[in-house]
Amino acid sequence: MNIQQFCRKRVCPAVEVVLKGFQNWGIGVFPATPILAVAFFISLGFAPPIFGASDKEPAPSYPSVEIPPEYQDKQMPKGWRTDSKVLTAGEAIYEGSANPDVNCAGCHGIDGKPTRKGKGAPDLSDPQVAQKSDALWFWEISEGKRRTKMRGHVKHLTEEQRWQVIAYMRTFAQ
Ligand code: HEC
Repeated sequence: MNIQQFCRKRVCPAVEVVLKGFQNWGIGVFPATPILAVAFFISLGFAPPIFGASDKEPAPSYPSVEIPPEYQDKQMPKGWRTDSKVLTAGEAIYEGSANPDVNCAGCHGIDGKPTRKGKGAPDLSDPQVAQKSDALWFWEISEGKRRTKMRGHVKHLTEEQRWQVIAYMRTFAQ
């Protein structure tokens, strides 16, 4: 929305409500105005982010996201990261040889670098991407990411298989 719409939709009703409030306390419109003016100037400090004109540092390219509570405590089984059987199983899932309906490499690339089909996917061999937590990845692989090509895989992959593929994905940044 532009500033005019913002003022009409949000500010005018808000000013009305506040003025009514002052009236209820027995404060007339006239003394209320300077109070409102001060409040307005204070609020200006908060306005730029609303209008997208913030001069703050650009957000980090990999902002942290809130993991839903049911996934926060998910943990890779002990020792799986280096277990060659786990890694082989993970590789087969990732590359689509375990189940042709699940082919992570088709988008994420055989080497963890996104393919054309997977445009927008993060480079899994980038150490910064690799810092993301297992729980976060487990959640994203399970539920997918809304409004992206990344689908949820709860139906196609058991919990074990999801951990196997994560263990394998961790090898790209090693
Ligand atoms: C159709 C393409 C496609 C397929 C197939 C696919 N992904 Fe993704 N994946 C994406 C895209 C695009 C993103 C980035 C989504 C976004 O915008 O945040 C993503 C994001 C992810 C992320 C989050 C990475 C991060 O750090 O933010 C993980 C983990 C992931 N995919 C794992 C997998 C696994 C495991 C498979 C296979 C079971 C898979 N993906 C299959 C396209 C795909």
